[in-house]
Amino acid sequence: MNVRRFETPAAVAKKLAEYAPRKCSNLLDPSVGGGALIAPLVKRIQREDIAVYCIDVDAEAILDLKNNFIREKNFSPKCINEDFLRWANLRRRPRFDCIVMNPPFAAAQTSLRREQICEINLGSSYASKAMPVEAAFVCRAIDLLTDDGRLLAVLPTSIVMSESLEWIRSYMLELGAIRSVHELPAGTFPNVESRMYLLVFDKGAKQRKITLFNHDLNEPHKMDLMIKPGELLGRLDYGYNHSKKVAEQLINRREALNWQKLADIVSIKRGNVKSPITASDVIHTCDFEHGYWRRPRPYRLEGSWKRIDSIRKTDILLQRVGRGCYQRVGRYASSSQARISDCMFVLRPKKQESFYEILFALKVMTRFRWLKPLLERGTGANYISIRSAGDLFLPMGLSKSYPAAFDAFVLGDKQRSGNWQKFANSVAKDLATVLA
Ligand SMILES: C[S@@+](CC[C@H](N)C(=O)[O-])C[C@H]1O[C@@H](n2cnc3c(N)ncnc32)[C@H](O)[C@@H]1O
Repeated sequence: MNVRRFETPAAVAKKLAEYAPRKCSNLLDPSVGGGALIAPLVKRIQREDIAVYCIDVDAEAILDLKNNFIREKNFSPKCINEDFLRWANLRRRPRFDCIVMNPPFAAAQTSLRREQICEINLGSSYASKAMPVEAAFVCRAIDLLTDDGRLLAVLPTSIVMSESLEWIRSYMLELGAIRSVHELPAGTFPNVESRMYLLVFDKGAKQRKITLFNHDLNEPHKMDLMIKPGELLGRLDYGYNHSKKVAEQLINRREALNWQKLADIVSIKRGNVKSPITASDVIHTCDFEHGYWRRPRPYRLEGSWKRIDSIRKTDILLQRVGRGCYQRVGRYASSSQARISDCMFVLRPKKQESFYEILFALKVMTRFRWLKPLLERGTGANYISIRSAGDLFLPMGLSKSYPAAFDAFVLGDKQRSGNWQKFANSVAKDLATVLA
């Protein structure tokens, strides 16, 4: 496997080849590399007269492809050393029954992030749109499919779950059917932190559900995501949708707990001090200890800052970035004023008297590991968006249902006795029994 080129491991390519269409006379890999992805597909289709097109912008990759596969029976592709996005714009290019691809993706490479301007099909016309390179590959590939062609793709999280690319998921649904999305095991691609997915798309088809698979390649868990007409298509990853179902179960079974959406009970604001942080009056991700956010040492406020940015006693801070950030939530416990880093959210209760109800509910809910995929998103570096935080449902009636634990939690916090967390744990444990 060529690690530098992020080539697809054989087991993954074999899995994707299982979705080969029944009919296929024209096949394309627009970012072929050394051919690891397309080779098992060609073998599976087994047609003498199949026309195979292989494109790669890297001349060395095309050479590797020729060296690796050209002598194989049934595999004498047309090799094109070109930028696929340019090639796809040519007037006279063929259309394909099947396109298989593991395209380059932007991730942290800002150069690839926004620079692609790609036309998208609006039915009777086309519109130009700026998008990351992986989205441009998807749009162009769909364009090049025959009216009932199939796309088999290895794709990063951006296409499957990002808010900024929500439009592309809806776009795909307008033009066809997303049959399945299969999460690949973590670390499938060496040196790639992002989770990767296999996606099967049939152009021109209609659908009522998408089958989602978890990260087991051979015996995955699966669930059906029902499509509701007119509703935006949110995230397509198994982890998120499974957790959403668990949360719904809990809410239905403990309806009396007065569940409320976080966005309805607090204002959510991102801190406004840009990292890296050098000032000593700023609360940053390293300032979380024993469930509290605090300044570790006495300090002086540096420079000028606006009072409006100052923190209140009833503000709750939630870390916004980093692995496991969903559990780094708590109140600010130092007495001195501070500013907030942009790696944090400030949750400010709309009614100050609800402060302890909200804090307790957050401490209870973040005990559940299944909450993580509901809150965190990411392509390697995890983050929480304002929307995913705001969409979280909290049980605001815990003080009535668990008065002893709630009162002990509040007292423990006021006395800074350090053992208040166990009261949140005991409530979480009790709630978990309704899910068993
Ligand atoms: C992730 S690798 C995939 C290689 C192979 N298809 C596989 O799955 O093992 C992506 C390939 O895309 C090629 N590539 C990057 N940008 C491209 C572009 N604009 N047009 C065509 N190929 C491109 C790279 O040279 C690289 O070989």
